[in-house]
Amino acid sequence: MENFKKEFNNYIKLYFENNNIENKYFRESLFYSMINGGKRLRPWIINEIGKFLDIDKNILLDIGLAVEILHTSSLIHDDLPSIDNSNLRRGKLSNHMRFDVHTAILSGDYGFIVPNKIILNLPIEDNLKIKVLDMFLSTSLKLFSGEMNDVAFEKYSLNPTLDEIIKMYEYKTGVMFGFSFAAPFLIVNDSKKAKKFYEVGVKFGLAFQLFDDLKDLKGNSKILGKDVNKDINKLTALKLLGVTKTEEKSNEFFNSCIKTLNEYKMNNFSEKLISLKKLIQER
Ligand code: IPE
Ligand code: IPE
Ligand code: MG
Ligand code: MG
Ligand code: MG
Repeated sequence: MENFKKEFNNYIKLYFENNNIENKYFRESLFYSMINGGKRLRPWIINEIGKFLDIDKNILLDIGLAVEILHTSSLIHDDLPSIDNSNLRRGKLSNHMRFDVHTAILSGDYGFIVPNKIILNLPIEDNLKIKVLDMFLSTSLKLFSGEMNDVAFEKYSLNPTLDEIIKMYEYKTGVMFGFSFAAPFLIVNDSKKAKKFYEVGVKFGLAFQLFDDLKDLKGNSKILGKDVNKDINKLTALKLLGVTKTEEKSNEFFNSCIKTLNEYKMNNFSEKLISLKKLIQER
């Protein structure tokens, strides 16, 4: 993971240094938010599954780049004063604190479009490219819907049920992992497995968001690099279930994901995920 992170960090840095962004304000703001600090978990997953399928490294890095830019843009907007109002992200000031609200809004917008261009430029056959782009666009739309529902539940003081909260988690967090688990299978033209692995990724993402709720409650802002106790006024799964049941439920999702990976003989990857779990739970 550490080696991949270094490699990916170089790759994303090169991307933003190489005149891919025309406007200097966007260049500065996106460079600030995209470079370093993140765990790069989604690109790492794409790379691991892609290695298993013998896919060219640069294709994997590009798909990882697309997802990481989408993810980071969603965080820029998530931190805005009218959404989560978070001052700290990845150990630094959040984008709107370092720059200003208008720059953060527009940089997020810009960062939602850039990944689609990256996918369009992949050196793969057009029919595969359309499949990847289609799945990526559906994923982006679900991410926005999930984030919208998250905000609506809180700001309109709605009383969602546990199932409604889990569905919202599936959208705001799960689907980006769904895409990361599935995209390599689209590249090798295996739509059936892509569908299956999308579901596996969503399960992983649900476990991940439940870990994140626990970190918001119990975590350390210095180690996490982001504000904690932001969910205090929010009806989260954790609020409905309590700590022990949330831990149980996140482990259930995680274990079910591991089980399927092993059924598909991806034990090497699942073992890495198990050893990563502690890091994910703490950072
Ligand atoms: C944070 O994601 C947002 C959630 C889905 C909970 P990560 O924990 O992957 O954040 P970075 O990319 O490492 O900063
Ligand atoms: C998920 O939720 C973030 C997005 C999908 C944008 P959170 O609001 O819990 O993420 P953190 O805790 O700020 O990283
Ligand atoms: Mg949020
Ligand atoms: Mg937040
Ligand atoms: Mg959170």
